[in-house]
Amino acid sequence: MGRITTAVFKEKKLKGEKITMLTAYDYPTAKVIDEAGIDSILVGDSLGNVVLGYENTLAVTMDDMVHHTKAVTRGAKNAMVVSDMPFLSYHISREESVRNAGRLIQEAGAQAVKLEGGQERIDTIKAILDAEIPVMGHIGLTPQSVHQFGGFKVQGRDLETAQKLIQDAVALANAGVFGMVLEGVPAALAKKITEMVSVPTIGIGAGKDCDGQVLVVHDMLGLYQGHVAKFVKKFGNLHPLMLEAVKSYSEEVKAGTFPAPEHCYSIDDSIIEKLY
Ligand code: KIV
Repeated sequence: MGRITTAVFKEKKLKGEKITMLTAYDYPTAKVIDEAGIDSILVGDSLGNVVLGYENTLAVTMDDMVHHTKAVTRGAKNAMVVSDMPFLSYHISREESVRNAGRLIQEAGAQAVKLEGGQERIDTIKAILDAEIPVMGHIGLTPQSVHQFGGFKVQGRDLETAQKLIQDAVALANAGVFGMVLEGVPAALAKKITEMVSVPTIGIGAGKDCDGQVLVVHDMLGLYQGHVAKFVKKFGNLHPLMLEAVKSYSEEVKAGTFPAPEHCYSIDDSIIEKLY
């Protein structure tokens, strides 16, 4: 199987085939996701929440994204790797935005970048596209706007904001994005947007009628025990498994039962006897 490209995304929408996407931030996770045949890996700036332990994504830097995207691209042979542009990496000037997007492609090996925002980002998106870098949009509950939204809230629930989301989606598609994430949007609105735009919509908390779905891998694997958003389905429950394994290790080390003979290297007794 060859690398999934933006053309495959387009084809899948035309054929009505769902697009699969998951986040990853490291080499072994990228390898598993790739092996499972997922279409695309997003190196999300959710890195800040699920890997680096921040409260939100705002502290994530370009260097963080380059570092983790490099690890993911080493593990992803077929999936298209999309790397997130972090907060402030595409807000200051077009030149800086293109340079930063270019780093994720040239230094880190991603095939595309994603950035948050609608009509207000069109000029920036066009500048990045001009440098031949595929761009994925992201509208709805955009986590980099957490302070402006006053929290992580579903977007587009009244007429005015729903209309604005439709205008944003159409503007992104017209600008030339190859796809767009719809996050935290009522399912019926996401369905309408999906029908209106020619490029695939990838939903997270946006219902089943998007052209594809994305989830944060730590959430869907059940790596945490605390609260997860309503839209998360835990397809695995790894936290108790990891906790049990770590506790067993601790107990065996303390009891002296690990390492056992099969975990040890041998040496001829005669050599040991000759040592002084
Ligand atoms: O950063 C991220 O993981 C994302 C997804 C939630 C879409 O942007």
